Amino acid sequence: MGFPTVRPRRIRSSQRIRNLVAETDLGPERLIAPLFVQEDAREPVQIEAMPGVYRWPVDAVADEAKRILDEGIDKFLIFGIPARKDEEASEAYNPHGVVQTAVRKLRKELGDRATIMTDVCMCQYTTHGHCGIVTQSGGAWRVDNDRTLPYMGKIAVSHVEAGADVVAPSSMMDGVVGQLRRSLDEAGFTDALIMGYSVKYASSFYGPFREAAESAPAFGDRRTYQMDPRNAMEALKEAELDVEEGADILMVKPALPYLDVIRLVKEAFPQYPLIAYSVSGEYSMMRAAGERGWLDEDRALLEAMYSIRRAGADAVITYYASRAAKLLREFD
Ligand code: PBG
Ligand code: ZN
Repeated sequence: MGFPTVRPRRIRSSQRIRNLVAETDLGPERLIAPLFVQEDAREPVQIEAMPGVYRWPVDAVADEAKRILDEGIDKFLIFGIPARKDEEASEAYNPHGVVQTAVRKLRKELGDRATIMTDVCMCQYTTHGHCGIVTQSGGAWRVDNDRTLPYMGKIAVSHVEAGADVVAPSSMMDGVVGQLRRSLDEAGFTDALIMGYSVKYASSFYGPFREAAESAPAFGDRRTYQMDPRNAMEALKEAELDVEEGADILMVKPALPYLDVIRLVKEAFPQYPLIAYSVSGEYSMMRAAGERGWLDEDRALLEAMYSIRRAGADAVITYYASRAAKLLREFD
């Protein structure tokens, strides 16, 4: 006695044994690459706060998608940066808008080799930068939930008309998934998937994205529609509503600071696919530390992704998608 008869180290003794017993796996099929498309860009514009991430001209986005496809990533989440903004986000549902044009090009160039997902929101398209219709009265402003919903439906229909397979409403308006389902059904698009941004927190980790997408609110913040970071149980209410309203896929966002929420939602709704969005700030943190040599970025980004998978996410939306796919080929 006193001698260890049980030795957990045995199952760690070699890479082969470790691979044999690993509880979590990660392959390129589990990753989704976001793509920014800018209507008035003539060449790729590097995003200052996200080194290695670009805003692509509409004419160049298909080539970039093909490059990523060659790395083994075949799902894309498209974000548009329009040349013109107004109060009602007209460019967001313009059939010849930036996302619609990009999606048509991607569909034409990639055929059915890729799944095209689009972010459905208004913030990049509104002069005020909020995710819906803003009404003012007596100096006070608010984002009007019910006036916003039909716009969201229209945007989604225009994306699917252009060839999107999956629409992802990110405005956090109440009832938005139900609205999209109704609008899509009425337009005859009963096969389009809806990936709800079900559990989306009001997070400072979106900072780099707002620079990338020029979507920072001109006044106020998003705390009247995005979730309070102090709340976990409330995530169950949001996820439950998305399920009831007809979402095919649920999402938790951001990922790393909310691993507990990912686990909670997966356990409550194991019968629904759950995707985690590892957001811009998560990418930029690791990039910045990696660039300074403060951590091994390649190892860190894979560890972060395994953690997100281990917490319960079926797949991850990440700006590291193509780099991770390459690393997984080299390391494993
Ligand atoms: C638009 C939207 C945002 C993100 C995805 N869709 C920004 C926001 O809500 O402010 C964030 C993505 C990221 O940070 O990578 N509503
Ligand atoms: Zn938005």
